[in-house]
Amino acid sequence: MLEKSLPSCDYTGQTAFIREKETIFAREWVAVCREEEIANDGDWQVFDIAGESILLVRGKGGGLSAFYNVCRHRGARLCVPKDEPQKPGRATLPSAVQPNGLIRCPYHAWTYNSDGALIGAPFLSEDPAFPKQDFSLYPAGCDVWAGFVFVHLIPAEARKLADQLGAIPDRVQNYPLGSLRIGHRIRYEVDANWKIVCENYNECYHCGPVHPELCALVPAFRSAGGAGLAWDDGIPHRPGAYTFTWSGTSTRAAFPGLSAAERSNHKGELAYPNLFLSLACEHVTAYILRPRGPSRTDVECLFLFAPEEINHPTFDHTDASSFWDTVNQQDWAICERVQQGISSRVHEHGYYAPMEDANLDMRRYIQER
Ligand code: FES
Ligand SMILES: [Fe+2]
Repeated sequence: MLEKSLPSCDYTGQTAFIREKETIFAREWVAVCREEEIANDGDWQVFDIAGESILLVRGKGGGLSAFYNVCRHRGARLCVPKDEPQKPGRATLPSAVQPNGLIRCPYHAWTYNSDGALIGAPFLSEDPAFPKQDFSLYPAGCDVWAGFVFVHLIPAEARKLADQLGAIPDRVQNYPLGSLRIGHRIRYEVDANWKIVCENYNECYHCGPVHPELCALVPAFRSAGGAGLAWDDGIPHRPGAYTFTWSGTSTRAAFPGLSAAERSNHKGELAYPNLFLSLACEHVTAYILRPRGPSRTDVECLFLFAPEEINHPTFDHTDASSFWDTVNQQDWAICERVQQGISSRVHEHGYYAPMEDANLDMRRYIQER
């Protein structure tokens, strides 16, 4: 009746975290951002994927490329994340990525084009004996689905992104995900293992005790511990409500092309390993998980709207974003309590109750890898 969850040490120790970097984050497509965040020639971003720094660049021809953020000469980091605080007094080095998309290492000025090929190394590259072609940047894989940019750390071994996503694109095909834009963003630092955050997203057994406001909007979350929810059709709201806002309604138009059920119900998807989608009829909330260590996960929560709504003079995301923030903060608080609790020496593993069936997904997902 009760199934054992993964052993607690899988959520708390460095050994499991390093293993997951190798077996999951280096071998799966990992969501990193929205395409609009790197929209123009010469735009760049740096992302940490389970401890690997990856440089994403929009080249002159408009294509996206991803590289390990490491110069082939003596290994200098090419770019630092734009939001990384600088040490007091430390010199600011020039950005490696030039407006034309060329990448010039700040150390000895080895220069790469946006495909990663070395095109210049001062005093060396004029020498015909210097094998420039052997010193391209280390490539990472890069692909886009529904406006989300994904990166793969070992592109030579990568399956197709579509194969990894499986049936998800079909299930959300009526939502215009690719054309939605970020209307608001909240960044959270959660002191819990990334799998705890996924498992929590996967079940609604906790919704009654943890989310009173959410259950007032979606009473189905309270019944039977969330067991048997028909996620394929979406979950219905209380009478008169049709979206995830404080009022359950919105002045924003529903996305065109939704089915009748999708115009009034709520859908959710977990695209392993690190992208959650919560789909309402007029906004989509996306969560990108960034595991930082065994007991720390940064979560980027993006609120996506139709561009014409964002451009409307009266656009106000707060009816949705503040509702979600309330629900999110409840989730992060309970996830942190789980991390604290399972770190006890007496707790070897937990249990999944039958109404948490979706949780078996995570156990299977980890064990298969
Ligand atoms: S380390 Fe990059 S050019 Fe020397
Ligand atoms: Fe929750």
